[in-house]
Amino acid sequence: MNILEINKGEVAVGAQAKIVALVKQAELKTWENANGKGEFMLYKFEDKTDAIGGIMFSPSGEAKEIKIGDLVRIEATVGTQKGRDELQLQIDTRKGNKIVVDPTIDREEVMQSAPVPRAEMQAYIDAKIAEIENEDLKLITTTVMGRMGKFFYEWPAAKVNHHAYLGGLAYHTSSMLKLAEGIMSVYPEGTFDRDLMFAGIILHDIAKVLEMSENGEYSIRGNLLGHLVMGSEIIDEVAIENGLDPKSQKIMLLKHIILSHHGKLEWGSPVAPRIIEAEIIHYIDNIDAKVNMIIPATDKVPNGSLSAKIFGLDNRQFLKH
Ligand SMILES: [Fe+2]
Ligand SMILES: [Fe+2]
Repeated sequence: MNILEINKGEVAVGAQAKIVALVKQAELKTWENANGKGEFMLYKFEDKTDAIGGIMFSPSGEAKEIKIGDLVRIEATVGTQKGRDELQLQIDTRKGNKIVVDPTIDREEVMQSAPVPRAEMQAYIDAKIAEIENEDLKLITTTVMGRMGKFFYEWPAAKVNHHAYLGGLAYHTSSMLKLAEGIMSVYPEGTFDRDLMFAGIILHDIAKVLEMSENGEYSIRGNLLGHLVMGSEIIDEVAIENGLDPKSQKIMLLKHIILSHHGKLEWGSPVAPRIIEAEIIHYIDNIDAKVNMIIPATDKVPNGSLSAKIFGLDNRQFLKH
């Protein structure tokens, strides 16, 4: 059984459901009214198909320990959320319901993954690295990917908004490289520094592997510094390790691309783009993020219907047609 089947109403309210899911939210809460007071756990679960909320009153010690990112087996009663028409998994111990962390669950079985196989993305990205002619940029890109590539190909690109699935970061990066190739082919040769475009795109979000865990949870450094500044730090470290001058023009421009790719100060960039490659990479980043917010939202609804509100797109709803 999967979450979409439950959400579609294939399991009657009051009936039992058994699923394997990823925990996206787990919070201990308290209630108090005229009858007394107590504790409950509020969960959000996700699998490849959809997401659903969960609740457990008087949670056991084990149930309270469950945290975001855990893979769990759940036996629950399908119910409706109080005051809302959404369904909910009610883990009711009186009915023998339970929630247990199971380390034998295969992450790839539960979590959504990129629509392109990892080997294909890796071959394409490696081919773009091979095309980089500038020795310093090539050495930096190769060194960083050699060190972080293992994580890079597994990581999501974001927690919620776009590419929030296994391999999402690599899929986002390879899509951006393809968009860049298309854009560069339109303008006269020499308009863009291809080396900076490729190295900049490959490394623009690389520090996301440090900024957040593979479940999309932000680390302390991630929260305090963010992947732009952390990415720039990595470039400096790798340059120094390899005997390169981190203050050289090319390395400065690479760092500028990373630091400016969010485009504006209010979107998290300490500097706005000031070279053509940085400006275009900022737009490409936006295009790919937006496409990957609209597609999953419209995929969930039938033809002729509006999607749910998309937070990252000013809460606009998009028509599936
Ligand atoms: Fe970014
Ligand atoms: Fe990005």
